[in-house]
Amino acid sequence: MKPGQQLMRHYLQFKDFRAEEYAYLFERTAVIKQRFKNYEKYTPLVDRTLAMIFEKASTRTRVSFEAGMYQMGGSVVHLTTGDSQLGRAEPVEDSARVISRMVDVVMIRTFEQDIIERFARHSRVPVINGLTDLAHPCQALADLLTLRELHGRLRGLKLAFVGDANNVAASLAVACAKTGVQFSVAAPRDYQFDEAFLARLRELNPAAVPYQTTDPREIVKGADAVYTDVWTSMGQESERSERLRAFADYQVNKQLMQLAPAAHFLHCLPAHRGEEVTDEVLDGPQSVVVHQAANRMHAQKGLLAWMLCSPPSACTKS
Ligand code: CP
Ligand code: NVA
Repeated sequence: MKPGQQLMRHYLQFKDFRAEEYAYLFERTAVIKQRFKNYEKYTPLVDRTLAMIFEKASTRTRVSFEAGMYQMGGSVVHLTTGDSQLGRAEPVEDSARVISRMVDVVMIRTFEQDIIERFARHSRVPVINGLTDLAHPCQALADLLTLRELHGRLRGLKLAFVGDANNVAASLAVACAKTGVQFSVAAPRDYQFDEAFLARLRELNPAAVPYQTTDPREIVKGADAVYTDVWTSMGQESERSERLRAFADYQVNKQLMQLAPAAHFLHCLPAHRGEEVTDEVLDGPQSVVVHQAANRMHAQKGLLAWMLCSPPSACTKS
């Protein structure tokens, strides 16, 4: 099948699409973004509805999906655990069967990856992962879009991740393996990728297993981009004090960024200012975090248009 064509596909992890499909997706996203920048109407998703299910908090994911759908002529239904039957233990399978008969695409933010996998198995429409404990593929998509815009290429770039090898880092590792970016991680040993994850990456691309170290200075030297995320992710609040101690030497601050003077600084946000990153770096000249956050919307518009309108002529009202 050509990259522009699409049967019903879910986007549950970054590995779900092939490298050439990402190349196509980035091209298509660039065109849609340019139309937005030119104030040009682009409404291929008229009459299409996205259901967004949030079992965890969100700002960027909600706003970017919702604004993106409206801009493309579609509409959005927003559900949370607190205000739907999901919070009263309606089985995921029943929710999937019902919701997917009323909308055209579903985005879910939840805890275990298994929840979204089960939903997808019983869904009639594509399901998109808006963050689980395991993965954040939409974030990695926006991150690669940002690097591609800044450097004009991805292959051969060096991305240094300082901090917890969490959901964001895991999707980035897969994204880098798919696109030829050299990815490295600096974290305390207990918070690095485990052998099982590395083995899955090795299967994907034997040449792209990330280098892991306990020394942040080692990986930021010569990096094109330095990335960090919170030390305590949603759902890990009870480990907060233990994590603060473990990561005390892993803050991205001015001293660390001085070792990578040509690097951009990235963070998926929200940041815990003064913990994993200082104000000086987050608000400083190397930081591209706002551009990166804005790209969540552009990347996801490209993703939605591709998932729902492939080939583009499939959406006749555009
Ligand atoms: N980066 C990200 O997913 O942000 P939100 O938690 O605000 O959606
Ligand atoms: N790792 C963070 C990312 C938030 C966007 C979390 O899961 O809470």
